[in-house]
Amino acid sequence: MALDEFVAELDQLAEEAADSFSLASDASMLEDLRVQILGAKSGQLKSAQKGLGKMPPADKPLAGKHFNQTKQRIEEAYALAQGRLDSASSTQDASCFDATEPGSRPRIGHLHPITQTVQELKDIFGRLGFSVAEGPEIEDERHNFDALNIDRSHPARDPLDNFYLQTACTAAASSKGEGEVSDGRLESPWLLRSQTSTVQIRVMEENPPPIRIVSLGRVYRPDTADATHYPMFHQIEGLLVDTDVTMADLKTVLRIFCSSYLGEEVHVRFRPSFFPFTEPSVEVDMQWGDGWVEMGGAGMVDPNVFRAVGYDPDKVTGFAFGLGVERLCARRFGITDIREFFKNDIRFLDQF
Ligand code: DAH
Repeated sequence: MALDEFVAELDQLAEEAADSFSLASDASMLEDLRVQILGAKSGQLKSAQKGLGKMPPADKPLAGKHFNQTKQRIEEAYALAQGRLDSASSTQDASCFDATEPGSRPRIGHLHPITQTVQELKDIFGRLGFSVAEGPEIEDERHNFDALNIDRSHPARDPLDNFYLQTACTAAASSKGEGEVSDGRLESPWLLRSQTSTVQIRVMEENPPPIRIVSLGRVYRPDTADATHYPMFHQIEGLLVDTDVTMADLKTVLRIFCSSYLGEEVHVRFRPSFFPFTEPSVEVDMQWGDGWVEMGGAGMVDPNVFRAVGYDPDKVTGFAFGLGVERLCARRFGITDIREFFKNDIRFLDQF
């Protein structure tokens, strides 16, 4: 093949390619043309390249150079057409925007039902003159047990009934064979609090009487999850300390609270019970329809608890109570399985 013949063929190809690309009216047409002309396997340029092999050796360098220039021209024509179609399609999109179409509403979440309940309970007790106190979820044994008059041998301290924490300090002790309790488990000074009664101690340690607080938050116990148990749940703790406080005051406060939360005249019943930190102690039931539902425990603050925080039990008296937040919320909304609260199923949560 002669050099001028080869050059003429390439020039013609470049011109035709530029024309075709400039006429492409959409992206798929342009793509078809690209394959037909520039396609790596059987495009027209590829076929033209074969002429290069048949060239006399002396003409090869010039022919090769011209081939490369042609290829570049064609690729530029392709890029130009591509740019033209891109900008056309974006102006078309903008002109299609219809400002009168109704918009799609963004999905907005809301507070978890337990958080809503916690806020509502705080409000109700706020109106009764109780302020809100907070305490840590990781506690020491003094606040979770000792100061609450729960002595060392009490079953509530059993390592199997609490989430004791493995800390750097207990790990070091165990490697030396120290710090073991009788059943071979580690004795740890730290645990996830098993009750919000811990906050009673923290508040009394920091403040002189009179006291009137509620504290709401998470507590942890290694229970197997079922319809009425979960290893983490919420409690509301109340503490009122003053002079001449009586059981009648306790019952009145709880009755007003129940009526406010459940929205009707609700009766409260006390059953004798035992808690180390109250004397006397009661279980609190609320009337529900024809029946009674247990809501938690309460009682008059034990003198030993006052002594542990430096109060004089001859001068002050007080009551305390602890109720289950999930129970209150479940009662109000007819929820029969507390695991529902923690599954994060949108179909459940959406209803609150
Ligand atoms: N802390 C108790 C529990 O978790 C509940 C309780 C009972 C709290 C009596 C109190 C109380 O403040 O006086 O089972």
